[in-house]
Amino acid sequence: MPNVVVIGAQWGDEGKGKLVDLFTEEADVVVRFQGGNNAGHTVVVDGQKTILHLIPSGILHPGKTCVIGNGVVVDPVVLAQEIAELKERGFLKDDNQLVLSLDAHVIMPWHQALDIAREQRAGAGKIGTTGRGIGPTYEDKVARRGLRVRDLIDEARLARKVKDRLPAAREELARLGAKLDEEDGALVQRYAELGRRLAPYAQDASLWLHKAMKAGKSLLFEGAQGTLLDVDHGTYPFVTSSNTVAGNAACGSGVGPTAIDHVIGITKAYSTRVGSGPYPSELKDATGEELRRIGAEFGATTGRPRRTGWIDALALRYAVRVNGLDGLAMMKLDVLTGFPEVKIAVGYRCGDRTYDEMPSDLETLERCEAIYESLPGWTEKLDGLRRWEDLPATARDYVKHVAKLVGVEVVAVSVGADRGETIVMKNPFHVKKRAAG
Ligand code: GDP
Ligand code: IMO
Ligand code: MG
Repeated sequence: MPNVVVIGAQWGDEGKGKLVDLFTEEADVVVRFQGGNNAGHTVVVDGQKTILHLIPSGILHPGKTCVIGNGVVVDPVVLAQEIAELKERGFLKDDNQLVLSLDAHVIMPWHQALDIAREQRAGAGKIGTTGRGIGPTYEDKVARRGLRVRDLIDEARLARKVKDRLPAAREELARLGAKLDEEDGALVQRYAELGRRLAPYAQDASLWLHKAMKAGKSLLFEGAQGTLLDVDHGTYPFVTSSNTVAGNAACGSGVGPTAIDHVIGITKAYSTRVGSGPYPSELKDATGEELRRIGAEFGATTGRPRRTGWIDALALRYAVRVNGLDGLAMMKLDVLTGFPEVKIAVGYRCGDRTYDEMPSDLETLERCEAIYESLPGWTEKLDGLRRWEDLPATARDYVKHVAKLVGVEVVAVSVGADRGETIVMKNPFHVKKRAAG
């Protein structure tokens, strides 16, 4: 059975949650492999909205297993709450539906406090993080002093690790003019209790996935954030602290890269970005405002207004390159209804130089302005349409033109937030496995 990776091809919030939920029908297991509760993945089923931050977006399907891989950073408070809320709504009836890697790193209260305090200190130069402690947790992971789920569920080890780390964190917080009010012992007790609540899910996730594959199960990997937010390949330093690209699906879950059959990138029919950093096709005018209003572009995690702009073929081509994309799913095509013309960034101008590929230098990128191609728009509402042939010819031409510019096929088009409001032209789970050699 094929194993498929779905990642964000832009700056996050492309609609990964919606597509993962839809594709879960074809998969047996859905795996998060990086990021944490900086993610906000929205799934709408029959008008009912669910926003998932840590649990994979397949959880609304009974009988499918969701795995939080070793590459994810887990805030136990948020995870416990997400579990409780899902159970209250009648989901996650069977605890075997969720697997939490013993090796996933844990976001502790000081990580979040440091994230917030550092951003406050940075003032205008801030990254615009989600304030969830993501960066400081990955820092501790790479510095080999982090706490993992296996430490959280063992009270003695938890107490020892907290005793090791907390004084230095309190010192740094004090230097930044911030503090944690909670006393050491109380903090250990609170987290030990969270450890007890999460222990039933904690397992060797890599081994679990290996057994699932051996049993012929199909895996769906759910990326968080987006390609341009990747710590290596994004617009550094205006990025998140993990690798968001498809290659990390293997590292962040403990399966080998040879297990991956297809990689699908998710893009909006336009573009958005939350937080600071370069964005050459950004629209700071009335059209950008219209995109924000019609597309309801406000963060699913922080509620912040998203920056908006036209689609960027250079950014998408870059995403094809660094992810090895087999196809694109284009979401929110319905939002473009009514715009007299729709534009595509096909180049950048920077002073007297022009670029037709994404420049890797941040300072150059910051000075770039997009060069656009303009296509005629359409006025028809799209949300009721379920077949590619039924889309207005101008909308089809737009999708086809983006595909041509980017160099991969568009395998699905989304015309509304609801699970059913999707046109799948080529389902990656129905395509033959990638040929060997
Ligand atoms: P994710 O982080 O990539 O999962 O995306 P988010 O959930 O943060 O943001 C995507 C938003 O667009 C959510 O509010 C979705 O419900 C919504 N959405 C997804 N697909 C469509 C679509 O085709 N049309 C419209 N109008 N909304 C969509
Ligand atoms: P999903 O999975 C959009 C952005 C933040 C900030 C930068 C670093 O829903 O697409 P962090 O808190 O990760 O240290 O912030 O990354 N960011 C996202 N933007 N969607 C997300 O997730 C994001 N997760 C982080 O706004 O610019
Ligand atoms: Mg989101």
